[in-house]
Amino acid sequence: MKGQRQTRVVFGAVAGSMLLLAQALADEHPAAADARAVEVTADTFRCLTDMTPVRHFYVDNLLGNLEGTLAVANSEDGGVYPPGSVVQLLPTEVMIKHGKGWNAATRDWEFFELDVSAAGSSIRNRGFTDVINRFGGNCFACHVRARPEWDLICEKGHGCEPVPLSREKILELQQADPRCGPGDAQQEGDQSQS
Ligand code: HEC
Repeated sequence: MKGQRQTRVVFGAVAGSMLLLAQALADEHPAAADARAVEVTADTFRCLTDMTPVRHFYVDNLLGNLEGTLAVANSEDGGVYPPGSVVQLLPTEVMIKHGKGWNAATRDWEFFELDVSAAGSSIRNRGFTDVINRFGGNCFACHVRARPEWDLICEKGHGCEPVPLSREKILELQQADPRCGPGDAQQEGDQSQS
């Protein structure tokens, strides 16, 4: 009897530590890229048109997973943007995806409003559900209206209230990003100015 109990105790201890080990591995491994902190400072931001274009907006990935970001951005039925994703339509408004679990309400997106000049970017406002843009609109309140499969990305037809900017105006604002030097890519529309 005593022997049996001892076996059970030992078995329990071994099983327990295996569980801890499995837990530790699970924490470290499959989700390793996702668990890395996404650190954002004013220096994170750069010339909009140097980022990767997707249709009429631009993307990047701060953790080196541009492929993952592009896969979701180009998917016809949506998906969840991977951590590190940067999405921008205008030079001054940015969405960045943090690691899973960072903020349940915003699905881990952080919203940024920037001031930009030839000298670079400065962060005017950042946060999750309470960032207001310079037109008095709450980023999250609009973006959360996108249907769930679009992961808070509005584009057109995803369920958000539209912005009062035509595609032509958006293109004009993109091309006028003061952080972009004359040597920056995709300034084709600007030839007349140089
Ligand atoms: C009035 C609602 C509204 C507000 C407020 C708003 N957005 Fe948007 N945003 C939109 C819509 C609609 C689009 C898509 C526009 C298009 O593609 O023509 C968009 C596009 C974007 C995009 C490109 C990806 C996408 O969702 O299509 C980013 C990034 C973005 N907004 C960030 C922000 C940030 C950051 C703020 C706050 C500083 C903000 N937005 C405020 C409605 C809004």
